[in-house]
Amino acid sequence: MADTLTIIDNRTGIKYDVPIADGTIRAEALRNIKVGDDDFGLMTYDPGFMNTASCRSAITFIDGDKGILRYRGYPVEQLAEHSNYLEVAYLLIHGELPTKAQFDLWEREITHHTYVHEFLKRTMEGFRYTAHPMGKMVSFLAALSTFYPESKQVRNSDVRYQQMVRIIAKMPTIAAWALRHQLGMPYVYPNNELSYTGNFLSMMFKMAEPVYKPHPVLERALNVLFILHADHEQNCSTSAARSVGSAETDPYCSLSAACAALYGPLHGGANEAVLRMLQDIGDIKRVPEFIKQVKDGKGRLMGFGHRVYKNYDPRAKIIKKLAYEVFEVTGRSPLLDVALELEKIALDDDYFVKRKLYPNVDFYSGLIYQAMGFPMDMFTSLFAIPRSSGWLAQWQEMIADSEQKISRPRQIYTGAALREFVPLVRRG
Ligand code: CMC
Repeated sequence: MADTLTIIDNRTGIKYDVPIADGTIRAEALRNIKVGDDDFGLMTYDPGFMNTASCRSAITFIDGDKGILRYRGYPVEQLAEHSNYLEVAYLLIHGELPTKAQFDLWEREITHHTYVHEFLKRTMEGFRYTAHPMGKMVSFLAALSTFYPESKQVRNSDVRYQQMVRIIAKMPTIAAWALRHQLGMPYVYPNNELSYTGNFLSMMFKMAEPVYKPHPVLERALNVLFILHADHEQNCSTSAARSVGSAETDPYCSLSAACAALYGPLHGGANEAVLRMLQDIGDIKRVPEFIKQVKDGKGRLMGFGHRVYKNYDPRAKIIKKLAYEVFEVTGRSPLLDVALELEKIALDDDYFVKRKLYPNVDFYSGLIYQAMGFPMDMFTSLFAIPRSSGWLAQWQEMIADSEQKISRPRQIYTGAALREFVPLVRRG
């Protein structure tokens, strides 16, 4: 009985055979284990979903021990080297790489939906100029659902597709305009002659020049960064998108929830934290002292460690190499030396080695973003733009999965037992 787990209930002596498939048992199978007729059955308790698979997914594969990341079977290293973000977004959503004709159509569709409704500008004006770009992004995604009421038809695949195109197309516009608003600068309308990343750079940085020409190295670097951030299986924000979407909420509001999850400093905010840490250390001479503080439990080495990767994060390797290419154009960041020294010492130190703490995706990305001219509070939006294709692929997969139901975890009740209500006047 190799594919069965046998459980003997010591309370009753009853033996249960629980089938094992794909290295998992069904939590529902444990419900058969009862001691009384009105007993609900055995549950599992798993705060933070440390050991619970919530879905079957064919999108992203991670082997954290080996440092492997693949989208739809393709190693992320190959995609970063040979592909572009829009092609990867197509791959995530459709499951296959496009033919030339399919890619041309996809690119044309995305390019023709980059404009946002003019009313959205008024929503923008409702925010103070100090408002964080992610707060605005969460709001704008939800606001977009009001422009496209048909998006509620989540069971209609044509309608679903239309919204996915719109969201991927509009994310750069929303992110760029959120920043221009903060800086008090006029909004730059999309230029459909430019590539996806080139157009984003134009909407961010165009000043008085009639046509903005993105630097090809920076345009390509942003493409690679977008590819590396496009999906990462069931992380906090993706789970949020799936969970909200399981109530058949439209994709704009589902992605708004995902954006809110990404906003948190434990998730999409780490790249900003790394940069602040490097600035605080300031000089390579202070690295040993900082490492000692971390080992003494006074703070963490940001950009190190990962829940899933217990090896070098494959994305970090690519980004480190990319940093040098970007610095060739922008000039070398003085903080790079601090980062390199931190990495060298940490990878050699018993504390980090024993805990399998390696650089993650955020260790070098902030340095690149800063060198390219993005302000620090924009970094999480730079994560959200490409992650939108991953969220949508996962959302669509969830909708099409006949096994999925509305997300509704159980709880272990720890509150008071039944007691009688006491009117206010009689309360002591
Ligand atoms: N610096 C120093 N010690 C660390 C670090 C770190 N960055 N990360 C983990 N540890 C230690 C931790 O103190 C613990 O030690 P001990 O066993 O002695 O108590 C041990 O390593 C295990 O840590 P954990 O907190 O149980 O591990 P986790 O899997 O719950 O946390 C993490 C993963 C990413 C939250 C954590 O490594 C961390 O806080 N890293 C810094 C923040 C960061 O870079 N986050 C970006 C993650 S990648 C982007 C994304 O996917 O969202």
